[in-house]
Amino acid sequence: MKVLSILGSPIRNGNTATLLHMYEKGLVEGQPDSEITEIFLQENKIQGCSGCMSCDLGKIKHCAIKDDMTEIYDLFEEANILVLATPIYFFSMTAQLKAFIDRLYAVPFEKWRGKKIVLLMTYGGDDEEDSGAVNLVHIMEYLANYTKTELAQVYGVSTRMRPDAVAENDKALNDVYELGRRLLTV
Ligand SMILES: Cc1cc2nc3c(=O)[nH]c(=O)nc-3n(C[C@H](O)[C@H](O)[C@H](O)COP(=O)(O)O)c2cc1C
Repeated sequence: MKVLSILGSPIRNGNTATLLHMYEKGLVEGQPDSEITEIFLQENKIQGCSGCMSCDLGKIKHCAIKDDMTEIYDLFEEANILVLATPIYFFSMTAQLKAFIDRLYAVPFEKWRGKKIVLLMTYGGDDEEDSGAVNLVHIMEYLANYTKTELAQVYGVSTRMRPDAVAENDKALNDVYELGRRLLTV
């Protein structure tokens, strides 16, 4: 089972990274054949979509923009599972994750079909409503419906803006580990 794991936070070892890594630990222990490739978006050059529609015209493979997405497209196509981890920024995902998702428009929808998507979020607000995480869940439901993928798991945790909040939150760590471990049973 191939897993493409996307860290959408610009902080390499922050709360979102801690959450993602515990999820991956559960995933590997629950499905020992998993092969995880993690991409830290902040260290990759991924321009925003230019809207040129070259991808739609079928004239080129993937995208007219040549940057770090060129290699990531193949990883995406091969993956059975896409794990998206992001802090909530202004009631939605980070700009890094949005650019990545927009660029996936260049992948024909038949290549998305059957993939499972997992959404992991951290936020400073009290809960999914207060933080705006509800908006992102909604966006991902639309995306899954449009691309005929499955939004298989969603997990969010409040950090109240404290840098070590997730690392100190045993419940969140245990919850997310268990989600990873049981991914294929959902
Ligand atoms: C630019 C920016 C915008 C943010 N917007 C929100 C928001 O709309 N709602 C919220 O609950 N938290 C917001 N936060 C707080 C982060 O989501 C929160 O601190 C998160 O846990 C940070 O994750 P990290 O440690 O991986 O960076 C924002 C933080 C930043 C830097």
